[in-house]
Amino acid sequence: MSENTENIANTHSESGEIAPAQTEAKEVELTNLPHVELFNGIEISKLTKRQTKKYKKYLKWEENKKERRAKQKEKLKAKKEYARLHNIKITDNKPLLLKNTMDKSPCKISICIDLSWSDLMTDKDMNKAIKQVIRIYAENRRAKAPMQLHLTTFVGKNKEVIRKHGGSEKWDVNFHESHYMDIFPKDRLIYLTSDSTNVIQKLEDDKVYIIGGLVDHNAHKGICYKKAVEEGISHGQLPIGEYFKLKQRKVLTINQVFEILLRVSEGKSFKEAIEINLPKRKDVLLINKTEKASQEPIST
Ligand SMILES: C[S@@+](CC[C@H](N)C(=O)[O-])C[C@H]1O[C@@H](n2cnc3c(N)ncnc32)[C@H](O)[C@@H]1O
Repeated sequence: MSENTENIANTHSESGEIAPAQTEAKEVELTNLPHVELFNGIEISKLTKRQTKKYKKYLKWEENKKERRAKQKEKLKAKKEYARLHNIKITDNKPLLLKNTMDKSPCKISICIDLSWSDLMTDKDMNKAIKQVIRIYAENRRAKAPMQLHLTTFVGKNKEVIRKHGGSEKWDVNFHESHYMDIFPKDRLIYLTSDSTNVIQKLEDDKVYIIGGLVDHNAHKGICYKKAVEEGISHGQLPIGEYFKLKQRKVLTINQVFEILLRVSEGKSFKEAIEINLPKRKDVLLINKTEKASQEPIST
């Protein structure tokens, strides 16, 4: 081989980064010849075009070392903070998910993400919906007491997009190809919808709370409510209006709704859970107990 490429293989650094041509670093260090700098045993001036390219890459990598270390430190700090907030144990700087699987969880509240809405979504919105579902899975997986999570009508495009995410087969989630009406007794079902006149005040173990897996930028107003009525199942909205005044409709994203329910299942009040998860907007006003007279904007 004319270019000595077998020695120029990339290797992993301690931090797991790939250092280009680390073998060359040794050569540079070990050589005590003044003025003759070597790269992988070859004088710099005699490097081929390809070796010069690798040499430059190596120099750049060395140059950015400090910056990279600082970034890694920041990342680790953020990771630790996240782990602290979510009760995740950290060993050797690697956060470990608690072995809190749904079957061992003391929380028996069931949440069903209804994935039967694909026909109403563009591919872009479908991807957004799936991203939110993935976030829901991650939140539930990290919870101390995960809720009983079901994905229903898990077929077609939904399935395809989720399965593209490596490892989803092993997710601790109940995947169902069937519709929720074919899985759960009708009297256990409650479709969550901001259009319902019923306001949820507490979560019950034997109920299945359905969240519509729909991202539609409100193009289909009231569609989940209509579906629940047509199917003859209960429905309910989150008690947002009891604590907050919103200038816009109280329609939240799929994962915001889930995260509110999760926090409530963990013992937070609805007010606290909604406050944590509502988008920080100027038009979200906290209603005081004495009501109306004083309304303070929340976290803006
Ligand atoms: C983006 S919303 C879909 C809105 C849809 N255009 C509609 O009007 O039904 C996604 C899902 O979040 C849930 N959701 C959003 N805001 C809610 C609220 N304030 N109360 C209860 N559920 C809500 C519902 O289950 C809804 O299907």
